[in-house]
Amino acid sequence: MVIPKASHCPSIRYRPVRPYDLEMLEQIHSDVFPIRYEPEFFQNVVSGRDIVAWAAVDRSRPNGQSDELIGFVTARIGLARESEIVDLLRYDSSKSDQTLVYILTLGVAETYRNLGIATSLIREVIKYASSIPTCRAVYLHVISYNNAAMRLYQKMSFKRVRRLQGFYLINGQHYDSYLFVCYLNGGRSPCSPLELATSMVSCLRSALKSLAARLRKNEDKVFKWPKCKETCCLIPTQSKRNLATECSGCECV
Ligand SMILES: CC(C)(COP(=O)(O)OP(=O)(O)OC[C@H]1O[C@@H](n2cnc3c(N)ncnc32)[C@H](O)[C@@H]1OP(=O)(O)O)[C@@H](O)C(=O)NCCC(=O)NCCS
Repeated sequence: MVIPKASHCPSIRYRPVRPYDLEMLEQIHSDVFPIRYEPEFFQNVVSGRDIVAWAAVDRSRPNGQSDELIGFVTARIGLARESEIVDLLRYDSSKSDQTLVYILTLGVAETYRNLGIATSLIREVIKYASSIPTCRAVYLHVISYNNAAMRLYQKMSFKRVRRLQGFYLINGQHYDSYLFVCYLNGGRSPCSPLELATSMVSCLRSALKSLAARLRKNEDKVFKWPKCKETCCLIPTQSKRNLATECSGCECV
């Protein structure tokens, strides 16, 4: 079955996936993904067994097709302590009921791309996850060459937190994946070494600044600034060369 081109003014609506979406769901999955999913997966999606899923439909299509799936997102909720990103959360072991939402699949029929449909589907997931008080993040994997998907997630404030080597095996070839996380409901990543180093540098910088200011104050008390110091600091429009000449006069202070 070929999905027709989107009309000039598609009227996109979002609703939960239902049992009668089974055929279109399977078709779009096989159209847009390089990997095959088991029939059991689709059964679980349409019956809502352990999986939540939203459909995008185009109401401007003729009757009979106006409720037909043209995009979807599927996701699963799980316990944070059992997830692979437990080390990426400020995990409080006393709150063992903390949960996460993992996006399993996301796809939009080719003729409906770049209309903001994936963005809206991800928003549905985030809205759902945010409404669960125990939920701390939404996360997912992206194959390393999928630039369109990575730009979409980055635009939606997901953080790229990890690269997993050889995560996917497609037609006998291994591909890396990136792990993206969107923190919610106060869920936050523990300080990364980079964050730690950045905050140490900024602390050190402000300590040095205040030390310099104090020293300057003390010097003010002891010495009188020679005139050339003022000249040097009050000539922001001077060329570099001039400035260097002027300042070299100050260095002797
Ligand atoms: C990735 C995909 C879901 C995007 O769906 P979409 O409805 O076209 O996405 P949107 O219109 O909401 O686009 C949102 C943002 O994604 C990015 N994006 C989408 N398509 C892009 C492309 N072809 N190239 C680069 N960036 C792209 C852009 O940043 C875009 O924002 P912008 O339009 O303001 O620049 C769709 O291309 C698709 O189904 N691909 C095949 C399946 C897939 O890769 N799924 C994701 C698996 S993790």
